[in-house]
Amino acid sequence: MIGKLNHVAIVVPDLAAAGDLYRDTFGARVSAAVDLPEHGVTTVFVELPNTKIELLHPLGADSPIQKFLQKHPTGGIHHLCYEVDDIEQAARRLTGKGMRILGDGKPKIGAHGKPVIFLHPADALGTLIELEQA
Ligand code: CO
Repeated sequence: MIGKLNHVAIVVPDLAAAGDLYRDTFGARVSAAVDLPEHGVTTVFVELPNTKIELLHPLGADSPIQKFLQKHPTGGIHHLCYEVDDIEQAARRLTGKGMRILGDGKPKIGAHGKPVIFLHPADALGTLIELEQA
């Protein structure tokens, strides 16, 4: 069911410094920062030949990643995103197998303008997984 690894997301304390690290030190292609107020994050995407790295920083007072940054002040890996063909079908299959979808269980429009869901980390080896309809 799951397809390509769409991105690995890293929460960072300083988005500009993180972008500089990937651009200047690692020599990768790095996007401009984009605010996503409905998700409480600002994102920068690093384009790699086979996948992307999503650099995330909290936006607003009740950002869902604020606590994560407090626990990991130097930054840390936050989630993996796998592509699926049909998000509704994927959600039905996974909930049918007892997995929990975060929030109200309904797909939301994610950072690429495509529907996404997040799965409870306790149901997936301690890893927060985002599924994105490709
Ligand atoms: Co993501």
